[in-house]
Amino acid sequence: MRSAWRKYLILPKLIRLSRSAPKDRAVAWDKYWEGIVSTGTSSEVLWDSGSDNELRGYRDILARHFDPDLPVVDVGCGHGAFSRALAAFSPRVIGVDVAEHAVARARAESEAMDNLSFAECDMTRPHAGAGLVGPTDANVFIRGVLHVLGTADQAALMENLRQMVGERGRVFLAETNFRGNPVEYVSHLGASRRSIPAPLELAIRKLPMPGHFGPDELAVVMPTDRWTLVEDGAATIETNPLMDAEGNSRVPGYFAVLKGKTPAQEPLSA
Ligand SMILES: C[S@@+](CC[C@H](N)C(=O)[O-])C[C@H]1O[C@@H](n2cnc3c(N)ncnc32)[C@H](O)[C@@H]1O
Repeated sequence: MRSAWRKYLILPKLIRLSRSAPKDRAVAWDKYWEGIVSTGTSSEVLWDSGSDNELRGYRDILARHFDPDLPVVDVGCGHGAFSRALAAFSPRVIGVDVAEHAVARARAESEAMDNLSFAECDMTRPHAGAGLVGPTDANVFIRGVLHVLGTADQAALMENLRQMVGERGRVFLAETNFRGNPVEYVSHLGASRRSIPAPLELAIRKLPMPGHFGPDELAVVMPTDRWTLVEDGAATIETNPLMDAEGNSRVPGYFAVLKGKTPAQEPLSA
């Protein structure tokens, strides 16, 4: 069999493993986080590199666009690794996540930081961002969340972000943008018919298969009467180093910085 096709022998195993993942995404995420025992340098979490290297790569972009006086909301914060790193150079950070167990874990790992708080929130619900930071505009940091949502949920979440950033805030997003099919994606992360790295297998068993999010996907959920694209480009999403057998713990990604607009028909005070 040609080697290009050999990787597809994993397909029956992938289907079998992913059968047990809850169909309801919010339930799946909460059950996933409930079962997580370790994060950081010996992490079980697929997208956790255990280092702030990726965020350091974004620092110049954030400095160019984030008003340093505004609070930062880390949307879909998971166990709070990026929230904690952002809190080191932001006046105030609020991490929000749909999963109660993610928020509990983020709080438990962040006890010593007093400019950092967490809240449980489904950011696809109408006006979900209202009241998170009080009566101020906010900057939004969002990493690895849009590519796990369907298009309607992405659009609903984006509208909430627009309401949160107001006139002064900006959105910084960084997303996985691997342009292959699911077999190519898991193969890239080190899966074969014989073995699958443990953090990857856990994600396959417990979570819906993710998509990808790049300029084309952003254009669909970023109406031009509501958003201005300020800057975008390629990013590298760093995953768990356990996937690094052949340097494959890095996944091609996409970043963008957005500025909100107030649609003509919507009064400023609404
Ligand atoms: C791939 S993880 C990324 C976590 C974190 N941003 C990071 O990079 O370490 C996606 C996160 O988004 C959260 N999430 C999924 N849907 C959400 C929603 N509708 N509202 C808020 N958070 C959500 C999940 O619970 C999960 O923690």
